[in-house]
Amino acid sequence: MLRGNDPASSVDDPRDNEPSSHHFAGFIGDRLVVSASFFLAPAPVNLELTSYQLRYMAADPEAQGRGYGTQLLRHAERELSSQNVEQLWANARDSALGFYERVGWSILDGSEHLSAETKLPHTVVFKILGEN
Ligand SMILES: CC(C)(COP(=O)(O)OP(=O)(O)OC[C@H]1O[C@@H](n2cnc3c(N)ncnc32)[C@H](O)[C@@H]1OP(=O)(O)O)[C@@H](O)C(=O)NCCC(=O)NCCS
Repeated sequence: MLRGNDPASSVDDPRDNEPSSHHFAGFIGDRLVVSASFFLAPAPVNLELTSYQLRYMAADPEAQGRGYGTQLLRHAERELSSQNVEQLWANARDSALGFYERVGWSILDGSEHLSAETKLPHTVVFKILGEN
């Protein structure tokens, strides 16, 4: 989904198997329809908070717009909050900024940039856990 449906593209992250990393997925039957990973990483905002970076958030194209992304983030936020994580952040694709705003994340003003990996426009989004 995030690499143009190219089966040859790498879907591994060097931090995937670190004990602090978390991977969440939603299934309909045995079909994975939404997933995201969270890595312990300092945030570019609210530096004093224990923060996790969200990466690789995507829903199956046939399952987008049905609330699964929202459900996954809500679940991840509860789960990570219960483990004393204080803030989540991400370099969000600008094409998905509306989604993060809908689920209550904030945009970091002035953080617009091009991704080194994909060359697509991105902006930092964040959410302090425990607030609404
Ligand atoms: C972005 C994505 C993960 C959202 O998941 P989803 O399951 O489709 O989202 P939901 O159905 O939970 O949508 C929640 C709300 O966000 C809105 N929304 C979803 N995607 C959006 C987008 N790209 N831009 C603006 N708003 C969006 C929905 O319309 C919905 O609004 P509503 O509450 O008014 O109905 C999914 O669309 C996706 O995989 N997109 C392509 C990959 C991508 O861009 N990933 C993010 C990388 S940072």
